Amino acid sequence: MWGGRFERGPAEIMEEINASIAFDQRLYAQDIAASKAHARMLATRQIISQADADAISAGLDRIKGEIDQGSFTFSRSLEDIHMNVESRLKELVGEAAGRLHTARSRNDQVATDFRLWVRDEIDNLDRALAAFQKALVAQAAKHTDTIMPGFTHLQIAQPVTFGHHLLAYVEMAARDRARFAAARVRANENPLGAAALAGTSFPVDRKQTTKDLGFAEPMRNSLDAVSARDFALEFLGAAAICATNLSRLADEIVLWCSPGFRFVRLTDAYTTGSSIMPQKRNPDAAELVRAKCARVTGALVTLLGVMKGLPLTYAKDMQEDKEAVFDGADSLALSVAAMTGMVEDLEADKTAMRRAAGEGFSTATDLADWLVRALKKPFREAHHITGRIVAMAEARGSKLEDLSLKELQSVEPGITAEALKVLSLDAAVASRTSFGGTAPENVKAQVKYWQEQLK
Ligand code: ARG
Repeated sequence: MWGGRFERGPAEIMEEINASIAFDQRLYAQDIAASKAHARMLATRQIISQADADAISAGLDRIKGEIDQGSFTFSRSLEDIHMNVESRLKELVGEAAGRLHTARSRNDQVATDFRLWVRDEIDNLDRALAAFQKALVAQAAKHTDTIMPGFTHLQIAQPVTFGHHLLAYVEMAARDRARFAAARVRANENPLGAAALAGTSFPVDRKQTTKDLGFAEPMRNSLDAVSARDFALEFLGAAAICATNLSRLADEIVLWCSPGFRFVRLTDAYTTGSSIMPQKRNPDAAELVRAKCARVTGALVTLLGVMKGLPLTYAKDMQEDKEAVFDGADSLALSVAAMTGMVEDLEADKTAMRRAAGEGFSTATDLADWLVRALKKPFREAHHITGRIVAMAEARGSKLEDLSLKELQSVEPGITAEALKVLSLDAAVASRTSFGGTAPENVKAQVKYWQEQLK
């Protein structure tokens, strides 16, 4: 393709390090779509004949079919997807194929293909994340008043509802989707027509290819168009954050499945057995989602490293963008799908959750709040009194709600029988009615809100 002034072929090792066809063949559909748009535009602007454009377009359709069916032979000596397609086009349509690359370079071509690919991937991920949210909301709807311990420092803090806990992840996924949507806006600009780096002397119509490929605008600066990869960085940034959010739920599922918790049970569909310990039911999928987060983050760090300090415009370094983006995207897509499956699959153990919520004096804050409300104590003093009551319960090995009124009054004589009522888990949860709080009535309203949003 560029051999005019070369006398000999590349060294074997040169070919190996230079070729990207092993991974960039994933761009074939985008490459062919962009080439068809380019050929159409060249014909409209009478840069090539309509007959050549038609031959090119038909040849490209045929190549697409061959690759779809797996009958296309990729060749490493042809380096990348762009040259593999063009070389086959030459076999199919002859001389016309050589006119396709008029007013174009692989630099704007690869930038265009890659933007189209990232845009498609964002659309796929958005659908997958919506399905994940729906699975969470469906579980939350079943557990608007299922009591579980809420944790801080992984210490039992205050009782909450399981539905409320699950909806926290729905909120996170909503922000993930918004981050991808924002990344999509900036990916969706058209670099085609920037040619190698400086633009072209041919009278191209960049608005036409922009419209044809569904981009929002042609990129304004040709140097920027061929050298920008921040769209891919943004995509990986959103992906890394999303994978990080998923890893937190994955870790909770691992904890919840463990004998110390037993909050949820996964069926055979999402667990594996042990080859030596017959009693085991391991949450492998959750563990793998937890670990895949590292790969997605690694992909982001890889591309940040590739781009750092890279002078304008295109440099071959940038060929290293693709494997990072593909691996990050694949790892995330698999993680979202696995999490959706696990959320649909899991069954909550209400008894175990309630039992755990009753431990650790989780309603102590409610007693302190009561002292503030009923006895007009300053919160700090109420906190102190409650602390002494907790110490007393701890010393006797009993729960807060099992202390008698007399015992409570031995610490604070003003306490009345009314105080006993706030010590129950149900009362504690039901009282948290502030907007965003865990009261079942709030959670029911939030489930409705999300069911509406996700319709
Ligand atoms: N395979 C190359 C890449 O992924 C395509 C662009 C090649 N451009 C060039 N000037 N050698 O970056």
